[in-house]
Order: sequence, then structure tokens, then C-alpha cells
Amino acid sequence: AKRPIIIQGPMPIEAENFAKRLKNVKEEKSGNFVFYKGTLNNYPVIVAKTGKGMENTAAATAIAIEKYKPAAIINQGTSGGHDPSLNVFDIVLGKRTVNLGSLKTPHKESNEGIHPTSWIPMDLMASEGSAGEDPNAEKARYFEGDAKLLKAAHAVKDKYSKGKVVEGTIGSADVWNNEVDRIKWFHENFGTSVEEMEGASAAQISKAYDVPFLGIRVLSNNKINGGQYDPTTAAANQDFVFEVVKKYISMK
Ligand code: 5AD
Repeated sequence: AKRPIIIQGPMPIEAENFAKRLKNVKEEKSGNFVFYKGTLNNYPVIVAKTGKGMENTAAATAIAIEKYKPAAIINQGTSGGHDPSLNVFDIVLGKRTVNLGSLKTPHKESNEGIHPTSWIPMDLMASEGSAGEDPNAEKARYFEGDAKLLKAAHAVKDKYSKGKVVEGTIGSADVWNNEVDRIKWFHENFGTSVEEMEGASAAQISKAYDVPFLGIRVLSNNKINGGQYDPTTAAANQDFVFEVVKKYISMK
């Protein structure tokens, strides 16, 4: 049997539009996670409604890999802009994905305060030893987007008319940043194009099992250029990802 392609979406508005476009859909549940198993052009495709955040996404990714042995995973949905040149409805293809919650603070004594801009990126995958003590762990861990999935996405860029489609860096954490200076700090220090709450988690687990992975995120908001939140971006992104998946299947 062909190994399926898995399309993850955290919220109902980020998953159900895609699931409705599949044929022969059978719904399966595992914990809170809903898997819509269907076909697209006679190829097996599974939409996974993961719920929001890093923990839900890690679990939903591991379960899906163990159960369905996917050929590839796309994590997609909405995001907030970190790059002033990106507008609501623009789409970022995750050339890289990084966990923005993985940080180490420098030493401070009692009453010396809290200084978030001095916090240091921390790489939990640098070694099997203590990340708190290992100087090699004082860097961000970037997960690379799969080259073939990126190629498929680039090949259908022209089918998206609601904004531009660019390669970039997707940053993830269970945090919604509204402090513009903090957003700029991530943009400068981690090179982030957008932030969301799932991509780096799915990327890390996909890598643990050697499953090709790509994050694809539409901007639903951008604090740093006044881009107001628009939930209809979620459906637009699924329309684009649908084209990416069709292309990827045709390349197989
Ligand atoms: N910051 C963090 N998460 C965001 N999301 C959309 N915009 C942002 C943002 N500015 C996504 C997350 C999560 C939900 C809150 O929406 O991925 O699933």
C-alpha cells in the first residue's frame, strides 16, 4: 500500500476545510486528536486535527507516525508576522523551523531582576547531557524543511493569488507575543519570519522518525506592521496546501 501524506491543522478552521476536500473519508480518533483518512487523486491523504500548541502537536505527530507510517507530514495553519515585509494573507514556506521557547537564562543573583533580552537560545538536541551545563547547547536548533516538499510548494506558488509565497523561518512556542520589541528581538536573533505554536514540535518529532516535513503558514496577523487578525486566512492557506499536496503526489 502507498504510504499516506499527513496534513496537520491545529484548530477546526485550520483542518476541516482540507478534510472536506478528501474522498472516501473515514474519521478516526486517538485521545483528542481527529484523523480524517481519505484520498486525493486516489492517493492516501490524512488530515490531522491536532489541537493547538506544542504538546498536542508532538503527541499527535508521534501517534500518526506510529499508526499510519506517513511518507511526509505538512504542518499548516495561521501565524503572526515577525517580518515587516510580510502582510496578512502572505504565506511562509518553512525552510527552517525553530522552537522559540527553548531558552536558558544567564546567572543572576537575588534581586538582580529578570532580563529576557539576555536569554540564550538552547538546543535540547545538542547532546544527551545536561543542556544547562553544555556550552555546545547555547544555540538555536533549526529543523530543515524537506527539499522535495519545498519544491512542490514552489511549483504551485502561482496558484495563490491572495498574497505572496516566500521561504522563511517559522518560530514556535506556547506563547502569543504582543510586545513589538520582543517580536523584533526574535526576528533579529532567531531570524523568524512568523510565529505560531506547533511547527517546531511537529518538525522535531518528524525528524526523530526521519519523516520528510514542511511547515506552511499563512499570516493571520502581523503586530509589527498593523496587520489585523483575519481568521479567513486559515481557509486560504488550506486551499494553497491542497495544491502543494496534489503537486507532491504527481512528483512521486
Ligand atoms: N502568535 C502565536 N500563535 C499564533 N497563531 C496565529 N497567530 C499567532 C501569533 N501571533 C496560531 C497558533 C495557535 C493559534 C493560537 O493560532 O499556531 O494554533
